[in-house]
Amino acid sequence: MLRSTLVIGVILSLTQLKMAQSQSAPKVLVYTATAGYRHDSIPTAIQVLGDNAQKYGVEFTFSEDKSLFTNESLSGFDGVMFVSNSDEVLDDSGQAALQQFFQSGGVYTGVHAASACLFNDENYQQAVGALFDYHPPIQDATFTRVNSTHPATANVPDRWSFQEEVYYFRSNPRDNGAVLLLSVDETSYVNNGTSTGNYPSMGDPHPIAWYIDAPLSAQPLAQGAQKAGRSFYTSLGHLNSTWQDETFIDHVMAGLKWALDGASTKAYGAGLVGNGSGNGTSASSSSAAASGPAGATSSGSGMNGASATSSSTTSATSGSASGGSSAGQRTAHMSTRAAGIGAGLVGGLILGATMIV
Ligand SMILES: *[C@@H]1O[C@H](CO)[C@@H](O)[C@H](O)[C@H]1NC(C)=O
Ligand SMILES: *[C@@H]1O[C@H](CO)[C@@H](O)[C@H](O)[C@H]1NC(C)=O
Ligand SMILES: *[C@@H]1O[C@H](CO)[C@@H](O)[C@H](O)[C@H]1NC(C)=O
Ligand SMILES: *[C@@H]1O[C@H](CO)[C@@H](O)[C@H](O)[C@H]1NC(C)=O
Ligand SMILES: *[C@@H]1O[C@H](CO)[C@@H](O)[C@H](O)[C@H]1NC(C)=O
Ligand SMILES: *[C@@H]1O[C@H](CO)[C@@H](O)[C@H](O)[C@H]1NC(C)=O
Repeated sequence: MLRSTLVIGVILSLTQLKMAQSQSAPKVLVYTATAGYRHDSIPTAIQVLGDNAQKYGVEFTFSEDKSLFTNESLSGFDGVMFVSNSDEVLDDSGQAALQQFFQSGGVYTGVHAASACLFNDENYQQAVGALFDYHPPIQDATFTRVNSTHPATANVPDRWSFQEEVYYFRSNPRDNGAVLLLSVDETSYVNNGTSTGNYPSMGDPHPIAWYIDAPLSAQPLAQGAQKAGRSFYTSLGHLNSTWQDETFIDHVMAGLKWALDGASTKAYGAGLVGNGSGNGTSASSSSAAASGPAGATSSGSGMNGASATSSSTTSATSGSASGGSSAGQRTAHMSTRAAGIGAGLVGGLILGATMIV
């Protein structure tokens, strides 16, 4: 009796494991490295993003390790999210790998000072849309919604006021294909800042947040890639209090989801997001370690080594356990998965025990 109960328990937990794998979420590398100014809201951003991963159905890996920017490591992700970076946070080989990632359909999302890094990387500039020039001192400002249907701004008020740094840019993001989502009421704050150079106009109305559907950073597309991954950028997000604001969190997460959901992206191609009509033969197949079923299998085998601590990368994974991992994040993935399997076994045994009664 006990033996058959155990068998049932194991079968149930294996079923549970299989379900967890098929529900794998798109994987996003959140990169918060800084080489100059460091925002003290970075830990808050990491915490808040992690807390919201499951709600929005994404899986985050947080890292400041530039050695993750290789063809192979990046191919395990559907998107990268740059948050409050500064200056030269990638070397030449990292920049080349990021370009290859974009050309394979990888998604870009940038928040706040993500526009204030990699000033000499033209490809990065095409992904983010425009580079940061300056901001007047932080003060109350009123941001204005110019697109009420895009997911990133669908839940933002028409006039949205809070303490923020109003960013000015070195170029017009529309020249890189950007479509404006948020602007700012320039009478709502005092601009006594000074431009750092003699730059072209950033365009009117004043750009604050935008999206790019097929960024130039993805050109030319890698062999096998169907379309370019999307890009989303918001200059908001300086203060802890902003990161803790539900409206802002939805702005960022919905912007990221929109980028991942494009029928053009690696995640969509692997059937991880969108309406499920992606068939896995699109962009992701051009990468060495594509996400999706193959990834799920490889991290399934990884669970055997769950107790090994082989990674020196400081990264943490939040959200549902899912397949696919690359060298730098194995430990985090494995422990999440091991915890899931443990829970499955316990769940199965409890169910089995209930059946005896
Ligand atoms: C923001 O939060 C971080 C911890 O997440 C804290 O270290 C920092 O001091 C906070 N900043 C301010 C201005 O309160
Ligand atoms: C990365 O991938 C691109 C495109 O396949 C290739 O040209 C490049 O040599 C690769 N870089 C490395 C370091 O392998
Ligand atoms: C708003 O965004 C949607 C994409 O979600 C786009 O189709 C539409 O053209 C945009 N509207 C304006 C006014 O830019
Ligand atoms: C800009 O205005 C702020 C607040 O009024 C003030 O603290 C700051 O010194 C001014 N900066 C310059 C460059 O004038
Ligand atoms: C689902 O995908 C198909 C094929 O790309 C598309 O025709 C359809 O409009 C999509 N439906 C929704 C609800 O997005
Ligand atoms: C999968 O997508 C590719 C590229 O869009 C297409 O050529 C192929 O016919 C699709 N296969 C199925 C089974 O839908």
